[in-house]
Amino acid sequence: MGHLFKRKVYSETDTSTHLSRVLGVWDIVFFGIAAIIGAGSFSSLGEAVFRGGPGVILLYLICGFACGFTALCYAEFASRIPTAGSAYTYAYASFGELIAWIIGWALIMEYSFGNIYVAFSWSDYFTSFLERLGMHIPDYLTCSYTEARKAFMNGSENQELVNAWKTAPLIGSLKCIVDVPALVINGLITWLCYVGVKESKNFNNTLVILKLAVIILVVLVGFAYINTDNWTPMNPQTHVESFMPNGFAGVMSAVSGVFFAYIGFDALSVLSEETKDPQKTLPKGMIISLVLCTVIYIALTLVLTGMVDYRKFDGVGDPLSFIFEKGNANVAWMELTVSFVAIVAITTVLLVFQMGQPRIWYVMSRDGLMPKKFQTVHPKYKTPSFATIITGIVVGIPILFTDKSFILDFTSIGTIFAFVLVCAGVLMLPAKQKIKGRFHLPYINGRFIFPVIFIGGLVGFYILQPSFFEKLMDWKDPSEGEFRASIFFFILINLVLCVIAFVKKLSLIPLIGLSSCLYLLTGMSHDNWFWFGLWFAIGLVIYFCYGYRNSKLGQQS
Ligand code: ALA
Repeated sequence: MGHLFKRKVYSETDTSTHLSRVLGVWDIVFFGIAAIIGAGSFSSLGEAVFRGGPGVILLYLICGFACGFTALCYAEFASRIPTAGSAYTYAYASFGELIAWIIGWALIMEYSFGNIYVAFSWSDYFTSFLERLGMHIPDYLTCSYTEARKAFMNGSENQELVNAWKTAPLIGSLKCIVDVPALVINGLITWLCYVGVKESKNFNNTLVILKLAVIILVVLVGFAYINTDNWTPMNPQTHVESFMPNGFAGVMSAVSGVFFAYIGFDALSVLSEETKDPQKTLPKGMIISLVLCTVIYIALTLVLTGMVDYRKFDGVGDPLSFIFEKGNANVAWMELTVSFVAIVAITTVLLVFQMGQPRIWYVMSRDGLMPKKFQTVHPKYKTPSFATIITGIVVGIPILFTDKSFILDFTSIGTIFAFVLVCAGVLMLPAKQKIKGRFHLPYINGRFIFPVIFIGGLVGFYILQPSFFEKLMDWKDPSEGEFRASIFFFILINLVLCVIAFVKKLSLIPLIGLSSCLYLLTGMSHDNWFWFGLWFAIGLVIYFCYGYRNSKLGQQS
């Protein structure tokens, strides 16, 4: 076994950062909104609505709930290990090196791959903004190759994608389709991170206010164009009108797009040492930002699905301006305003993630799990220069050959997985002495409450939605096959958790966080799991060839 499961002990000297405590609840909320609201609300909402119809509102509630409990677990870890923290550091302290590596590897999916999606979305809004100003970039230079190919093969209604495929010039027999704006913005952001852009509270707050203002404007203006019939659209196969036209399984298939909209709150945990009275402020700030975002997402979903039939959102990357287009509400000034603000809003998210990734690699390299080169600090700019350039390459190259939906699924499955391990990690932490001024996750004995909530919830759901279970038990229906397997697996794991909770008197809050994040994983398709597994296999090979041999912790043992 060697040191595979050896835990790293973080001493007070590791954790004391001597930062001044200046941030209050609303500062945390503003930082939260800056990191959370971006491509998820401005872009992936469209695809989510297309898959699940108006019923995706339920999924926003479920994701908000899961993220709320996970946020509390992050806060608990942050109060114990407030060094350059991320799920990687937390896992090193609670599960040992192997799992820490796995999480670090999964975080590449959250940060770098997440940014590929954000760059694609930025490009969608940028292109539509130029379009509205009368400047047209050829379609084959504004979308990804695989997306255009898929749209053409599937006879999609998205004319831009189909057109990109039809009009692209050929290099040999290869169609030349590249998302140039996505590549350019990635280059610019990498450069900004390289020269060390300074985060400023005031600038950040101005951008957040701008983002919120435009979302409120979309809701207010859009409200006037709502046709309530659109909220109960007809299922094209069964001809039944429903809030969930593709059933609950359809809603769950939108999980990647919906969950993506919440990613970013975890970045708040690193602010614990700069927060006034973090015991109260940090969880309050995190929960307020998550509640605000949930309310915003629900309002936006109601407006989008009320204004335009959900089926029209197939492949639409800029849904918030799309609803004001000619064929829809036809409000030209809104199209222009929304596109412009979206470009700014999405850029802030790009920056947060592109700055986060090199810092995680920096810490991993310090632990000996990545080559020393990742610790290189630029002599003039004082930034992790090498790691920043590698991040730019890791984000840039896949822009050439992946597409939005693949990346969205990949990012979400990796991030949910990291959240699962963070919640499970809190369950494994030893009880600690309370230190005044630090956050403490309240201990509620889950011995009886968790099994009652889980089994009660299952029975309650059965009584309310018997058709859901009947469909699930209809073994002859192959369409539910993937979802069925995931649900059974989910129930099985939770039953095991009920037993462990009973025997070990586990803490209720991380248990609920763990169980709800596991539930989100049931929405992932077998394809997602396949790619996720492959990614892990590659990660493990790299770990055993490099990290295991060079680990600092390993050398100490
Ligand atoms: N939640 C972030 C966004 O929506 C990742 O862009």
